[in-house]
Amino acid sequence: MQILTRRGFMLSTGAVALAPALALGEQPGANAKTGAVASPDFPADVEINLICQRDVVSIMKGAPTRVWRYAGELVKGPQNTLTPVPGAYLGPTLRLVKGQKIRIRLKNDLPEHTIAHWHGLHVPMAADGHPSAVIPPGASYVYEFELRNRAGMNFYHPHTHEATATQVYRGLAGLIMIEDEEERSIGLPSGEFEIPLVIQDRSFDQDNQLVYGGGMHRDMFGFYGDVVLVNGRPNYRLEVASRAYRLRLLNASNARIYKLAWDDGSPLTVIGTDGGLLEKPETRGYVMLAPSERLDLWVDFSGRAVGAQMTMRSQSFSGLVPSMAMGMSGEDDAVEAFQVFSVSVTRAMSDSPKLPERLTPIRRYRREDLANPDNPRPIAINMSHMRMSLNGDEYGHGALQPNERVPVDSVQLIEIFHDHGGGMGGGMGGGMGGGMGMRGMGMGGGMMGPGMGMMGMMSMAHPIHLHGQQFQILERVFDGDTGSRATWSDGIVDSGWKDTVLVAPGERVRIAKPFGDFKGRFMYHCHNLEHEDMGMMREFSVE
Ligand code: C2O
Ligand code: CU
Ligand code: CU
Repeated sequence: MQILTRRGFMLSTGAVALAPALALGEQPGANAKTGAVASPDFPADVEINLICQRDVVSIMKGAPTRVWRYAGELVKGPQNTLTPVPGAYLGPTLRLVKGQKIRIRLKNDLPEHTIAHWHGLHVPMAADGHPSAVIPPGASYVYEFELRNRAGMNFYHPHTHEATATQVYRGLAGLIMIEDEEERSIGLPSGEFEIPLVIQDRSFDQDNQLVYGGGMHRDMFGFYGDVVLVNGRPNYRLEVASRAYRLRLLNASNARIYKLAWDDGSPLTVIGTDGGLLEKPETRGYVMLAPSERLDLWVDFSGRAVGAQMTMRSQSFSGLVPSMAMGMSGEDDAVEAFQVFSVSVTRAMSDSPKLPERLTPIRRYRREDLANPDNPRPIAINMSHMRMSLNGDEYGHGALQPNERVPVDSVQLIEIFHDHGGGMGGGMGGGMGGGMGMRGMGMGGGMMGPGMGMMGMMSMAHPIHLHGQQFQILERVFDGDTGSRATWSDGIVDSGWKDTVLVAPGERVRIAKPFGDFKGRFMYHCHNLEHEDMGMMREFSVE
């Protein structure tokens, strides 16, 4: 089996192996929709061809695995724009710079419809990978946008309605690293000392083929695999020098939530979240990482002897995922511990950068910035045996609700909460008005504990993601089982820019969400991909 070394992963200068020319031939009839052809008056600095294709890669010992993946070809732009992840099914890593004008031509060579979404990027609706923009096999879609995001690690993945989970599961995902001047000036570890780590879980059969099992439990709670892959490899091992590194984590799993900690008890230093750097480093004993969340870690190996080993483990926690989701029995819904990756110090280095005291300033939203400070727009999470929805409606069902019409260039107060009571119907989003009035309708604390019947079992944490500009988390109000909460709450990092927020059972989370620049329809959904596909997705109409 191929062991992926740090050197192998960082294969970015000079040796970039481009995929063979992608033969983006015209398909008669397939280019009929907007976005199918490049606009001659868009002066692209960067031009990329991405092809969604079937492939075979070696993942486990023995037979290779059939996957779906993105392959890439750089048509125009800096050489390091496109970096393959060697030996993995992951798509090429896109390195983009704030301000660049970008054209991406997506070609669908899969046997079903697809569309790609740039998770975390603030782009016009036509470039957002809206599910209505799906293209059939053989067709292409052209994205054109100017990169407005600040530096940060984002990612791309399919957004095909009712097929996002399976398409991502088969392998379709890749990283987008955005750089800007502000971040560069801080001088964080870079090049071979900056390592992206994409964490996913999968299951394999005896022939090493991917198994998407779980049946009804999977549909209800999400898919949980029994093999953890990092950058597409099992038993991931990082070889490092004794100096400071920047480890950039993405949870690209369909549903699994990780509680990450070093096995030797070393604290973790967080320097960034979904939307880039924090104002200043924060120290945690462990960190929580829900699907689609990112964490930027400063990890200093200086002072460690050559030969030293460390293991990043996912520790046990409870109260976020029902035990029945993972086929476990017993009254405790604790998630078991397991190894995520290991680190070996293989060479000594005498000098290492120092952790900066300050990173990048974040202007916090204040009350006067909010268009609706006393009247939050609701995102009610509805989950029952039969239905998964938001604000009482599944995606594609029910008309746009009054609360989903948002004026462009406004900052909105949004309150995300659990509403498993049923019977709220579509009225929740529309007529309820004042968010405070809804407080009483959430689940009470006593219902959160294990063994409380169907309602208790239905309660689980949902990573809620909003498209468009990233947001700030203003407050969390908790009215639930504090014992369970103590097993994960210290690992939450709310101080940075976010595009996904984990909302635990019993929690109400208030966020300040800007809707700048672009009118159109922008999704909000649970990033538990099975939930998303089951209908836990709606959209805002920015007008
Ligand atoms: Cu990462 Cu709407 O998705
Ligand atoms: Cu997204
Ligand atoms: Cu969910």
